[in-house]
Amino acid sequence: VLDLGIENVADVGFVGFRDGKVTGFEREPAREVIDARGGFVGPGLVDPHTHLVFAGDRAAEFEQRCQGKTYLEIAQSGGGITRTVEATRAASEDELVELALPRLAALLSHGVTTAEVKSGYGLDVENELKMLRVIQKLNARQPITLIPTVLALHSRPDDKWVDTVVNELLPRVGKLAVFCDAFVEKTAFTADETRRVMKKAVELGLIPRLHVDQLTPGAGAELAAELKAATADHLEHVSGEGIKALAFAGTVAVLNPTSTLFLREAKYAPGRALIDGGVRVALCTNCNPGSSMTENVALAMSLACLQNGLTPREAYEGFTKNAALAVRRPDLGALYAGGPGDAVLYNCASYQTLPYHLGMSEVRTVIKAGRRVWPGST
Ligand code: NIG
Repeated sequence: VLDLGIENVADVGFVGFRDGKVTGFEREPAREVIDARGGFVGPGLVDPHTHLVFAGDRAAEFEQRCQGKTYLEIAQSGGGITRTVEATRAASEDELVELALPRLAALLSHGVTTAEVKSGYGLDVENELKMLRVIQKLNARQPITLIPTVLALHSRPDDKWVDTVVNELLPRVGKLAVFCDAFVEKTAFTADETRRVMKKAVELGLIPRLHVDQLTPGAGAELAAELKAATADHLEHVSGEGIKALAFAGTVAVLNPTSTLFLREAKYAPGRALIDGGVRVALCTNCNPGSSMTENVALAMSLACLQNGLTPREAYEGFTKNAALAVRRPDLGALYAGGPGDAVLYNCASYQTLPYHLGMSEVRTVIKAGRRVWPGST
């Protein structure tokens, strides 16, 4: 595999695409040529953690948080995830599709060609399956490849929910999801509840991934490692032991710096210590209405550099090769002959400018499966 993920192809000639794949680096132009001079070309980006299917918004909660209320206080007084669950249950599949399309268009404009998308705002069997069908429909309606996750344990709708997940929801998921996720937190689900659900998920062929150590320390990283989870997401409060466990298990850390900012939390995940401890670190937008209402990939990269201690190269790899590993698609996140024809042409000459240009996008053109999909489509 020729990994030219961050090379400037102007030195090479042309990147060729045919039949949805990269043919290689060509000396001669093809039938249709996109002028890449002055910019650099890299692989399509992967956003490995989003909750972008939802109805309603939580702008009023944002205002409350700006006045000093915390995310947990709002959740405990009946707002938070519960508010989005009410709105999402009330929406039809088609309405949810229409609401998600502009969010996906925004992600595409930031160079994202593959994104993980979670359920978790249904929280009863029919509404969770409805959300997964919405993700399936969205896959057919727009260019980004969506990798579905059943976020079975997000918030507790009733005391029997863990039983319902194990006995009723997971057996009906079938091919509608690749991953099974849980929010492990004092105010959400315990390690034992998560173990029980993930045991069933693995029996059914789903791959575990977890939200851990986000708001309080809780040995969540150790649990993710024990369960051989593909990813441990958030990790603001991960311990040294947790870092060792993730490195040993090969679990990818998915950092959510825009959430830490958005929730006005003081502690960013220790990205530097995770990388130095041998953990692969990916980044995400975590696009969702409560903790990260953004599709801005470049902002996440900037925060990862400024607050999580990553270098610009590590931040770029957080949305390319490490994000590809996070969604268990090692074929993505790099440009190579024979690989998927997903590519991004940037205005700037180096990946270094992506986090440097704070909050702005340098994306000029996005190619999906060999076709120009943004801006416009040909
Ligand atoms: O990843 N932490 C739990 N889930 C989301 C937030 C969801 C919401 O607040 O609606 C997250 O940050």
